Amino acid sequence: MLNIVTGKQKKEQLLNQRGISIWFTGLSGSGKSTLAKLLEKKLFDSGYKTVLLDGDNTRLSLNKDLGFSIEDRTENIRRIAEVCKLFNDTGIITISCFISPTNEIREMAQSIIGNNAFYLIYTNSSIETCIQRDTKGLYKKAIEHKLPDFTGISSPFENPENPFLVISTETSIEDSFQLIWDVILKELN
Ligand code: ADX
Repeated sequence: MLNIVTGKQKKEQLLNQRGISIWFTGLSGSGKSTLAKLLEKKLFDSGYKTVLLDGDNTRLSLNKDLGFSIEDRTENIRRIAEVCKLFNDTGIITISCFISPTNEIREMAQSIIGNNAFYLIYTNSSIETCIQRDTKGLYKKAIEHKLPDFTGISSPFENPENPFLVISTETSIEDSFQLIWDVILKELN
């Protein structure tokens, strides 16, 4: 029988890259988006095809019906992981930045995307540091009880058990980025 299915491998060959998911997890304000944007720019400049997904854009579109209960966060991540898988199967690299606060949620994402394609990067900033930065003013609101279920204040964040890479806030953005770039490049080649 004629095989008309074009598989992931052939699509990866066409694009000359691996379709993987680079997944940033960490508290709000821990630096996920900054590092992800740098990574996307550098990958683009190096000829890689990528897509960047983050809570700020998908929560206004695909997931605008979801809130911040653990059930809604689970559904948020489930949908995003399915989107990542679709992109990966066509050879595209996804870069996702989601708090993804529990090990169960992250494991679900990994099982949807597949062990071989899932690269978890933990931006490990202490809650004190994030409160101090408070770039969006959300921690202040959460502490004043004006924003319920806020991660790190009134909703849990579990440290990831087996991340591919941990980025510490002690390190500068440039050094953190270099660390990510070096290991990701190895995985792509
Ligand atoms: S996740 O827990 O479901 O992975 P996601 O990454 O999509 O969360 O969204 C987090 C972003 O939503 C934060 O960076 C912040 O800007 C915003 N946000 C609004 N309300 C909350 C809340 N209660 N907890 C955490 N983040 C919130």
